[in-house]
Amino acid sequence: MVDGKRTLLIVGGGIAAFKSLDLVRRLRERGATVRGVLTAGGAQFVTPLSLSALTEDKVYQDLFSLTDEAEMGHIELSRSADLIVVAPATADLMAKMATGSASDLASTLLLATDTDVLIAPAMNVRMWEHPATVANLATLRARGVAVVGPNEGPMACGEFGFGRMAEPLEIVAAIEGYFGAADGPLKGRRALVTSGPTHEPIDPVRYIANRSSGKQGHAIAAALAGLGAETTLVTGPTHEPNPAGVRVIRIETARQMLAACLAGLPTDVAICAAAVADWRVASAAEQKLKKDGGALPALTLTENPDILATLAGRENDRPALVIGFAAETENVVEHAAAKRARKGCDWIVANDVSPDTGTFGGDGNTVHLVTAEQVEDWPPLSKVEVGQRLARRIADHFAA
Ligand code: PMT
Repeated sequence: MVDGKRTLLIVGGGIAAFKSLDLVRRLRERGATVRGVLTAGGAQFVTPLSLSALTEDKVYQDLFSLTDEAEMGHIELSRSADLIVVAPATADLMAKMATGSASDLASTLLLATDTDVLIAPAMNVRMWEHPATVANLATLRARGVAVVGPNEGPMACGEFGFGRMAEPLEIVAAIEGYFGAADGPLKGRRALVTSGPTHEPIDPVRYIANRSSGKQGHAIAAALAGLGAETTLVTGPTHEPNPAGVRVIRIETARQMLAACLAGLPTDVAICAAAVADWRVASAAEQKLKKDGGALPALTLTENPDILATLAGRENDRPALVIGFAAETENVVEHAAAKRARKGCDWIVANDVSPDTGTFGGDGNTVHLVTAEQVEDWPPLSKVEVGQRLARRIADHFAA
């Protein structure tokens, strides 16, 4: 998707800047050209030499450089790319963008450009949650700036929360999403993806849930959009940011997920990666259950609708390709194959979710793609890579 595309990468001053060097590598191995701009802060974390070596190009740093201006004026530089990527986008850079400040080369380029911009924010969680940053982000989004991340996790400063820059492959997926919408192999196709857990209420404050983080489903949606599919993601409650270029519908319960999926039909491909609760409380209490001492509340469960089986069994608007996931803890492939037949889907992606695998909530996944004809054993991959490989496999299927 990015082959032959010209990106201008603005590296801001944050500890995540080192990941931007890997981003350059990932973009270039996919055929993109990358021209680097380093802010003064960015140069505290990565050197101009390393950015230049990886981009195999000159690195731009100075607004008032006579030689740079003679070779390529900053206005021209700002418009020389197909997409401007700001990674890491610090709180300061976002504030400059939102207010239209042009106090250094990076902010001047961002003000002067008529090229689309994608930012990958990275900062301390308190800075990310500060009302000033929240307002700046809203302003940028309203102006059409695309955003990828940030992710939640431990931070270099020792705190925990949102503010970690999206991983390089996630940024690549967002960039592919931007270009893919224009000319990917899934252009003209519609895709529906489910992701995350469902929350089934017990009373107004308590619910039944599971440990799904939504990382796998979200990565699949991002990858499909990256290949040009018009993608709808129906997700249960997660901390995952919305993938760029994807229509996201947030629900809580299995029944809401089913309704959102049915509203998303017709679609060419449906991928059910959500960990839908199999059961819900038959009659959730309307008021908070009281701990009255003595009798424990008895919860009677009833079965939730099976979204995958429902989509696979539709008569008139069945998606041409219906893909399920099988979360297994033993005899992974055998159980998954039986589940594929039982639920009537075309493919099923089997993954081992035993606690020691870290599949639920983790970043990696080792899967087997089970079709009617064969079983493909995929190597251990990141969830982003599983999403990309599955999206590519889907594109090949439709191309064949
Ligand atoms: O979210 P992560 O932390 O990234 O973890 C990813 C994952 C482990 C949740 C994901 O890779 C995965 O395995 N998803 C399916 C989990 C699951 O519910 O598996 P299952 O074997 O119970 O269900 C089989 C299939 O039926 C799944 O496609 C599921 O979405 C679907 N299903 C199940 C029950 C139900 N009521 N409706 C459904 O559609």
